[in-house]
Amino acid sequence: MNYQLCPSILSADFNRLGEQLSILKKEGVQIVHIDVMDGLFVPSISFGMPVIRSIRKESDLFFDVHLMVDNPERYIEEFGDCGADSITVHTEACRDTDEAIRLIRKTGAKVGISIKPNTPVAEALPYLDRINMILVMTVEPGFGGQKYIDACTAKVQELRRIIDERNLPVDIQVDGGINAGTLETAIKAGANFLVEGSAVFKGDLAANIRSTHEAIQRIAGSME
Ligand code: DX5
Ligand code: ZN
Repeated sequence: MNYQLCPSILSADFNRLGEQLSILKKEGVQIVHIDVMDGLFVPSISFGMPVIRSIRKESDLFFDVHLMVDNPERYIEEFGDCGADSITVHTEACRDTDEAIRLIRKTGAKVGISIKPNTPVAEALPYLDRINMILVMTVEPGFGGQKYIDACTAKVQELRRIIDERNLPVDIQVDGGINAGTLETAIKAGANFLVEGSAVFKGDLAANIRSTHEAIQRIAGSME
């Protein structure tokens, strides 16, 4: 299984964003999670195209762009142009999820679909054979630093079972409240892409990345 820690720059120090991306790279991170919020689909506003465009110039990390944006179809092409390597949209936010998938493919980026904590897994199933990643939100999207919602673990388990049964090449990403206390639950449920915002950016970034990588290896090793 390809396990990846995907640090979310929502919790980064934006005064030192470039420097922090270099630390991620140096510590062996491959995927950086980029949360775009529009103040409509979620209550808060984060950042958008200009920020992504400017970090793209300096970083060759894989940019995993999570659009918490209403009617994301409007912006997919532009996020592709900004340098997204993967674009994830919420089924709840799309006017037409099939069209959104088609638009993401057209940019050349990988395709992710996300579901909020109260959205049943069944809503994502029709798309599984056409996507690269399913993002299971483990908090209500909108803010970093929230508590992991335990009820979401069963959704990850269900998706892992279905994806394995159908032998689909789809990664399962969890996002929200992932830290040293919840990592094991998420991995054992079947998640392989682990987003962490506050847990890695609070304190010593390099040391946090190292200890999280070690924890992922240990947990994954115990499952072999
Ligand atoms: C929340 C965002 C997350 C957020 C996670 O809506 O999608 O990616 O950065 O933050 P933590 O890891 O602090 O819960
Ligand atoms: Zn996110």
